[in-house]
Amino acid sequence: MTERRPLFWMWPVEQDWSPNTVILFSQLIILRGKLKRMGFRHFDGVDGSLRMLEGAKKTGLYKQLMHCMLGQDRIPVKAETYDVVIIVGALSVGQVPLKVIRELWDATKPGGYVCMTTRANTDNQKYKAELEQMIKALEEEQKWRSVAVVEVEEWERGVSELDTGYIPGAVYLYQKGFL
Ligand SMILES: C[S@@+](CC[C@H](N)C(=O)[O-])C[C@H]1O[C@@H](n2cnc3c(N)ncnc32)[C@H](O)[C@@H]1O
Repeated sequence: MTERRPLFWMWPVEQDWSPNTVILFSQLIILRGKLKRMGFRHFDGVDGSLRMLEGAKKTGLYKQLMHCMLGQDRIPVKAETYDVVIIVGALSVGQVPLKVIRELWDATKPGGYVCMTTRANTDNQKYKAELEQMIKALEEEQKWRSVAVVEVEEWERGVSELDTGYIPGAVYLYQKGFL
């Protein structure tokens, strides 16, 4: 059987992580278990932070970890390599620029899935709207189709002074077409 290669863009981080990533970590554990039950065995990871990559290495989960500042450098993978591409916690203002969405699409096999998340608190509203425009543009080019879009009221714990308690967010799941 051909080994499937889901590409993970998220890490279980070191022990001193901030409260918002604790929530994402529990999501990661659930998701990882689900993906393993579905037959996925090969996990690779990319991050712009060497510290995050060190934490990821300690988990023993990843076969390959790649250091890349998305938006500055091209993602160091061949086109159409992965069945699943997931980016969590990094698509927001000041982090990963939107032009990277096309690179995520490029790294995905035809018929594969791209899962993206963003936050929907006040300081990320403009980025979220532009992200949705970018996603729609690829849909209009028939590069992918929408599988699910979920707005989550209590997505993660807010860390900015403008936020109290949990902030909203959104998850976008798209399937790459066979062109
Ligand atoms: C809030 S953390 C999320 C970590 C993890 N995905 C999770 O869900 O727990 C954001 C991550 O995005 C990475 N990041 C932000 N901008 C990036 C960029 N332009 N290129 C690569 N990584 C970036 C940071 O280094 C950090 O590891």
